[in-house]
Amino acid sequence: MAKVKSAYFCQSCGYESPKWLGKCPACQQWNTFVEEITEKKSSGVPDWKSDTSSIKPRVNKPQKVQEITYTEEQRLITPDKELNRVLGGGIVSGSLILIGGEPGIGKSTLMLQLALTLPKIKVLYVSGEESEQQIKLRAERITPHPLSECFILTETSTQNIFKQIEVLEPNIVVVDSIQTLHSAHIESTPGSVSQVRECTAELMRFAKESNTPVFLIGHITKDGMIAGPKILEHMVDTVLQFEGDRHHVYRILRAIKNRFGSSAELGIYEMQGNGLREVSNPSEILLSLREEALSGVTVSATMEGMRPILIETQALVSNSPYGTPQRSSTGFDTKRMNMLLAVLEKRCGFKLGAKDVFLNIAGGIRIEDPSIDLGLIAAIISSHEDMPISHKICFAAEVGLSGEIRAVTRIEQRIAEAEKLGFEQIFISKYNKKGIDFGKYSINIQPVSKVEEVFELLFG
Ligand code: TYD
Ligand code: MG
Repeated sequence: MAKVKSAYFCQSCGYESPKWLGKCPACQQWNTFVEEITEKKSSGVPDWKSDTSSIKPRVNKPQKVQEITYTEEQRLITPDKELNRVLGGGIVSGSLILIGGEPGIGKSTLMLQLALTLPKIKVLYVSGEESEQQIKLRAERITPHPLSECFILTETSTQNIFKQIEVLEPNIVVVDSIQTLHSAHIESTPGSVSQVRECTAELMRFAKESNTPVFLIGHITKDGMIAGPKILEHMVDTVLQFEGDRHHVYRILRAIKNRFGSSAELGIYEMQGNGLREVSNPSEILLSLREEALSGVTVSATMEGMRPILIETQALVSNSPYGTPQRSSTGFDTKRMNMLLAVLEKRCGFKLGAKDVFLNIAGGIRIEDPSIDLGLIAAIISSHEDMPISHKICFAAEVGLSGEIRAVTRIEQRIAEAEKLGFEQIFISKYNKKGIDFGKYSINIQPVSKVEEVFELLFG
């Protein structure tokens, strides 16, 4: 038997040190080191399997690349189209998928809904957070007649979970949440970095050796990181983030890392009284149906993953009643907003220094695509000058530090989406013009190269 060894771990980022430290050299946090046991006795038998188990572990041998067979059946296509898209075309067998998100955003709902609607599949839903009765109530709300064989287990010890898995032999395992699990091999409390790491490692081994997909739900800490972020992200195959504003109905499922598909993909859901509903035509929902133009409101053609989404941006510019003007944005990076304001001050001569500026992206959605820049700038000036911009105009271009209008990716898709939704004019960068067949579109495409030029065209 090996003797027990311990080390100190930063509870914030998982940094390991042989001695106690006041400040973490990795994440610069103070007072985060806790001693944890690192070595356990090893018996040679995988944690998830007893000797009498009927699940046969996969034995790996070297194989010639040419001889490795790859079939479509390796992916399980779920009834949830958004989830399939985000996963890169369905659930890959033997993959370990982490779903992160803030409390109350709908992670448990999403997973339970998946567990209930997979036809003829045996799912084990392990919950360390809620009782069977609570889960039953939620399941009734989502679907009164489950299509799958869904088993609920309220248990937090990984060893006990593996015992039940051996008996049940499920096709899919869902764990809600990784922070509630504990392994008997480690003495620290559930949720601590070493427990999370150990439990994930055990589940990883189970997933790979039995070829069963495992979903892990993980809570996100205040600063937006999945607890023990670095270790978990490296261990799992796929990291999905479930986000949105709890007070809005829309939720976004984003792939942050995906070994089996693009990490730029995104799924949109609407939270309803009976669970989450897929949103397949996001633009139509995210645009408010305005009959008339309002000042400070513009529409941008952004891309999220492979999908174009038209989204409304709102700006409010007002005189600052106090000495220091307020700058705040919802759904958009405040630093980038400040940069755009500086461009307007310096390059275009607008005096915004003594103004409060508020930005808002409709629907409680966060946009990272820089193609929203031009639309935002137009919204700010529209509010500042109190001159409305026609609601038949939309924008798709990035703005550079010298006020130049820069090209964006997949411009044709954006133009097509704008045309589909009935817009009459789209402003794009002149550097995006090449290769576009203008005759193909009935929408008026307006190439521009400088911010001033845009204002000239819009406000005369
Ligand atoms: P939940 O899945 O418990 O969130 P998480 O697991 O991420 O903490 O979702 C909680 C919220 O979702 C809660 O405020 C109630 C709401 N909800 C609905 O609006 N409709 C539903 O059908 C369900 C099941 C939940
Ligand atoms: Mg939950």
